[in-house]
Amino acid sequence: MLKVESLHADIGGSRILRGVSLEVGPGEVACLMGRNGVGKTTTLKSITGLRDVRSGRISLEGKALNGLAPDARARLGIGYVPQGRDIFPHMTVEENLRIGYVANGSRIKDVKTAVERIYTLFPVLKSMLARKGGVLSGGQQQQLAIGRALLTGPKLLILDEPTEGIQPSIIEEIGETIKFLRTTEKLAILLVEQYVDFCRDVGDRYFAMDRGAVVSSGSIRDLTDEVVKTHLQV
Ligand SMILES: Nc1ncnc2c1ncn2[C@@H]1O[C@H](COP(=O)(O)OP(=O)(O)O)[C@@H](O)[C@H]1O
Ligand SMILES: [Mg+2]
Repeated sequence: MLKVESLHADIGGSRILRGVSLEVGPGEVACLMGRNGVGKTTTLKSITGLRDVRSGRISLEGKALNGLAPDARARLGIGYVPQGRDIFPHMTVEENLRIGYVANGSRIKDVKTAVERIYTLFPVLKSMLARKGGVLSGGQQQQLAIGRALLTGPKLLILDEPTEGIQPSIIEEIGETIKFLRTTEKLAILLVEQYVDFCRDVGDRYFAMDRGAVVSSGSIRDLTDEVVKTHLQV
């Protein structure tokens, strides 16, 4: 589904990515892990088209994405939930969701069914449709951001640290949602996550980054305590 080969990227003259390679298949959750500042978010922004790369190849279902604008990539099936959620605090829940399917890149045809599906996944959103996004709890905002991304109709869903600063009960709900989207809807999911137990729970494979490159990868069963100690622990 997604293939990233030897990505190099610079920010302000510093080399941030030094040859990142990874793959995610349909119906698979790939966890991109690593300490703060190693280049996880930069990798995601390179894939979504929000950041230019210096070299390397990015393809979705065999089609090259390099050089395409973010909305063109969305139209090909990339949904993105940014770090820190990035919902619009002064807009209502309903307006925030609407952005998902009226956005340039949305692939949704049957809006009514798609929106009902979001309410089934996240019932709390339905009960808060008229509320401003900013009054929701962190976990509810995260669910809103995921709902908004799903309303673009993605084949590949990219999530940047969805458990960051969120209470355990909602983390569990988000985990169940990820498993449902993977297993039932056969989405490919690329999950940036520092919470190791969460990756072991929802992930199929892992890619551990350090200083701009993937330094260890494999089946999630191979994410041993040794790997965690060497590459992921602070
Ligand atoms: N807009 C920016 N301007 C300058 N440096 C940046 C910018 N964005 C990221 N960086 C730097 O790039 C490196 C990687 O950042 P990032 O990809 O956000 O890391 P991660 O998501 O793994 O925590 C960090 O050292 C960070 O300081
Ligand atoms: Mg980040």
